[in-house]
Amino acid sequence: MNAPHSHNTATVAGLRMIEQLRQVHEPLRADIEVLENALQQLSDETADLTRIPEMIDNLTIADFVWQLRVNCDFYCNTLTLHHTIEDQRMFPVMTRNFPELAPAVERLQAEHKLVGEIVSEAKRASLALSTESSTVNRAHAAISELADHMQSHLDFEEATLFPYFRRMDRDWHYG
Ligand SMILES: [Fe+2]
Ligand SMILES: [Fe+2]
Repeated sequence: MNAPHSHNTATVAGLRMIEQLRQVHEPLRADIEVLENALQQLSDETADLTRIPEMIDNLTIADFVWQLRVNCDFYCNTLTLHHTIEDQRMFPVMTRNFPELAPAVERLQAEHKLVGEIVSEAKRASLALSTESSTVNRAHAAISELADHMQSHLDFEEATLFPYFRRMDRDWHYG
């Protein structure tokens, strides 16, 4: 395992791992943006209660709020599961194979921990979401903070791991 390869070649397993992680990360990137924008929209609409429209995007405002509650909660659960798998399975395999990755993996794990705290607040805020402007602003703040951390975390994780994936002859799932 881990025979040296030139910078231009990558193992079959490596290319597959890169593709798999991208496929998980892309919706995590895209969906948080959608949620942030939707909460911004709701926040704009609820800022002035005298001009609350009855519909947003063909949904009643109550339906829109309900949809956001469900989607924010689902996003938080999906993200938590992804981080748990990385912490418990992927990172240990990577540091065992490449001890020099330890400092970067430590940073990634610290980011997971910080994100975990933001996710807890985002979950609580999302589940408390109503047409009341204060609840919308709270959820919007939490989701925006989560979005900021996630974009940079995902970029750093890919930049850190992909060069090492490229050198691996065996998928991290198999140790
Ligand atoms: Fe991660
Ligand atoms: Fe990840």
